[in-house]
Amino acid sequence: MKTELLEATDDTIAKAAKLLKNDEVVAFPTETVYGLGANALHPNAVDKIFVAKERPNDNPLIVHISGEEMLDELVSEIPDVARELFVFWPGPLTLVMKKKEIVPDVTSAGLPTVGIRMPAHPVFTKLIDMCGFPIAAPSANSFGKPSPTVASHVYDDMNEKIPMILDGGQCSVGIESTILDVTSEVPVLLRPGKITVEEIEAVVGHIIVHDAVLDPTKKIVGAVPSPGMKYKHYSPEAEVILVMDDSKTKELVEEFHKSEKDIGLITHKKEHMSLAKNVFVSTNVMHDLYYFLRELDKCSDIIIVEGVSNDEYGLLNRLKKAASQIVE
Ligand code: TXA
Ligand code: MG
Repeated sequence: MKTELLEATDDTIAKAAKLLKNDEVVAFPTETVYGLGANALHPNAVDKIFVAKERPNDNPLIVHISGEEMLDELVSEIPDVARELFVFWPGPLTLVMKKKEIVPDVTSAGLPTVGIRMPAHPVFTKLIDMCGFPIAAPSANSFGKPSPTVASHVYDDMNEKIPMILDGGQCSVGIESTILDVTSEVPVLLRPGKITVEEIEAVVGHIIVHDAVLDPTKKIVGAVPSPGMKYKHYSPEAEVILVMDDSKTKELVEEFHKSEKDIGLITHKKEHMSLAKNVFVSTNVMHDLYYFLRELDKCSDIIIVEGVSNDEYGLLNRLKKAASQIVE
């Protein structure tokens, strides 16, 4: 299949909507990461997402809506806390609620619940509006790879697997949405993201942070509340080393240089720029992380990431999952 990579315009968005109406899969920008979408209510369309991504089918998809009126069709109950949290919509927050029959098992991976998000990207919102149905979309990477935040990275993974990619520039947030389960008395944070625990608690009071969020390296025992938690994620081919104490970076890089490995470095410190051949400097690592990881993966055996503070939950969660070693 030929994959068209097209700049998002009214015409190309209409073309993408037509493909989606024909139960095809297309990729598009969202404010978090690029998504790989299909009609959430058509099992044969959703199946194609799993094939293109090579994703295990016990891992449910997030269903995206363009307005609150789409919600009644999808969920059997909208808890009061969910309504309060609509202040974050449109935006990078996914709410897990009890699903209605209409949501096919392939979309929710057989769970009685469904994750819903109202995205804040104008291209995606327009696309959903033009389709008139909710769109199921995981991140547009091959399973296990870092999520794409630019269209060319979607192309790297999805060329010849899907008919179209809409290019809407670089995603503004850079990591996937915060996921909150609102089916229990006290909401449970299943995946941290740009919207923080503090921001959520300021609206709905105390929430529970799942153990796997606090320590993503810990093996989950018992039932897994969010199937995505149990899979290795966000991993480039290169080995990722997360350095928390950046006074140790120089020594670490020098050690690796002896082994003649190609080192990639993501840093917030200008004075560390000369440490390695392949270096990216950023003061907004959340925004740039996946872009840097995927670019450095093309030319590095080892990628060292530094400059992430302990209170950056969402970012740390991704990095701890990607890293094979953490230097405290
Ligand atoms: O920002 C995002 O959320 C992006 C964009 C495209 O919207 N999407 C995204 O989807 O990150 P994906 O499939 O890569 O990650 C969805 C995560 C998975 O870990 C999955 O297990 C979890 O959401 N999930 C989906 N439905 C769930 C449910 N009903 N209960 C618990 N976890 C759920
Ligand atoms: Mg993903």
